[in-house]
Amino acid sequence: MYKLLLTTATIGALATTALAQSAADTAKARRAFFSLIGYEMGTLGAMAQGKMDYDAEAASAAATDMVALTKYTMSDLFAPGTSTEDVSGETRALPAIWEDMSGFQAKGEDFTAALMELNAVAGDGLDALRPAVGKLGGTCKACHDDYRAKSF
Ligand code: HEC
Repeated sequence: MYKLLLTTATIGALATTALAQSAADTAKARRAFFSLIGYEMGTLGAMAQGKMDYDAEAASAAATDMVALTKYTMSDLFAPGTSTEDVSGETRALPAIWEDMSGFQAKGEDFTAALMELNAVAGDGLDALRPAVGKLGGTCKACHDDYRAKSF
């Protein structure tokens, strides 16, 4: 719960933060952040889909790393003026994020909640991991469907 609240607080600060670096650099850093999320999810997804042998330690590490990423202060990564309309070709972050900050934030909360559930069971065997990965993946897709462009 503590982590969930923390994430809510940091995302909540989004709209007021000024752009400290170029929009292109911000988009690049934001994409790097999501690359790390995607990388850890890749490990968990491969195990869930049987493409990689289940390994309690590796699964726990991937989940823990993702939890660590939720502590990252997101406000600068989502500075205004860094959407697809501002730096076309360098980001897929849709203007809808800034137009509907509370909706975007709600997707982030769903993600964090599912991640905490996954983190609690990641070391408990493949049967426990599989549904938790499926649920977490659903929260990625839900946000991407509404707030991420399909292509650059
Ligand atoms: C609250 C919304 C949200 C959630 C939840 C979310 N994402 Fe994303 N994701 C985004 C946005 C917005 C972008 C586009 C960033 C950009 O292009 O600037 C993105 C981009 C990405 C990218 C592409 C990075 C690149 O190099 O361009 C990957 C990979 C990714 N997300 C994976 C995931 C995975 C895996 C999850 C779930 C475990 C997840 N995301 C959850 C919003 C979200």
